[in-house]
Amino acid sequence: MLIVSCSHGKHLGSLIAKKAKARHSGLHVDKFPDDELRVRFESGLRNKSIVLVQSFYKNVSDCIIEAILAAKTAKELGAKKVILAAPYFPYMRQDKRFHKGEAVSQPIVTGLIDKYFDTVYLMDPHLHRKNKLEHLFKIRSKKVTANSLIAAYIKKHIKNPVIIGPDEESYKWARSVANMLGVESRILRKKRYSSYHVEVKLNKKINLKGKNAVIVDDIISTGNTIMETAKILRRLGAKDIRCICVHGIFANDALNKLKKAGIKVVSTNTIPNKAAKIDVSGMIADSLKTG
Ligand code: R5P
Repeated sequence: MLIVSCSHGKHLGSLIAKKAKARHSGLHVDKFPDDELRVRFESGLRNKSIVLVQSFYKNVSDCIIEAILAAKTAKELGAKKVILAAPYFPYMRQDKRFHKGEAVSQPIVTGLIDKYFDTVYLMDPHLHRKNKLEHLFKIRSKKVTANSLIAAYIKKHIKNPVIIGPDEESYKWARSVANMLGVESRILRKKRYSSYHVEVKLNKKINLKGKNAVIVDDIISTGNTIMETAKILRRLGAKDIRCICVHGIFANDALNKLKKAGIKVVSTNTIPNKAAKIDVSGMIADSLKTG
């Protein structure tokens, strides 16, 4: 097995290779003057199983094209198998036509991956209306979750936690982490009006006396879901507000916005950022080893 770090997988590729006891190589990526991508493998691929590590953040469309160019090229250069390990996989929230005429992007993007890869490993994909990866990919797919790492982090750093899921979809993370820790959890209700406007509501009062509220979610993008949840927790008397997410996208400087609001934020390193304190490389390496 050869682990190849794509441009947005460099922060994890060599760590994953080390932990999987596999060889590691980079992928040379640059651009032609007209902004088209050029990718070039730096080692021989013949008869090898190639794992492309790519986290699809920031220039998401370029990340997708780069992964496809690399996967097709790997096959042409004799790779036996081409596997995608995606610490963060995009477009998963676009699983429905929310507005008239809009693209349902999720199956379109997973369809592209189907065409060029043999297997995918996705770290905590945002599965909602299509609840299983098998419903999304025709190729072999495996979900890897950081929940046990998040639980271990909370156990080590936060006393008397009560876990708060900010919306119905967050139960897969919030409830699972709470169950692992054997502590109370509460899932709130959220209504999304636009990318930037959400309303979070408390369905039943929570007693936070002597407890530390920890919001657990899969993704923080604009940070507004967390800001709205924090307002509710403050009204309930919470002093310290902490939140932990798997994927810290932190669009438009959201991490600073949350910090300025006095919210302590921790994320995993599926996407590199200043709050990335939980390392998922071992988890991905274990999954690749067990297949
Ligand atoms: C969606 O349901 C996700 O689980 C997150 O709650 C959402 O993506 C967060 O987005 P934002 O940070 O922009 O409120």
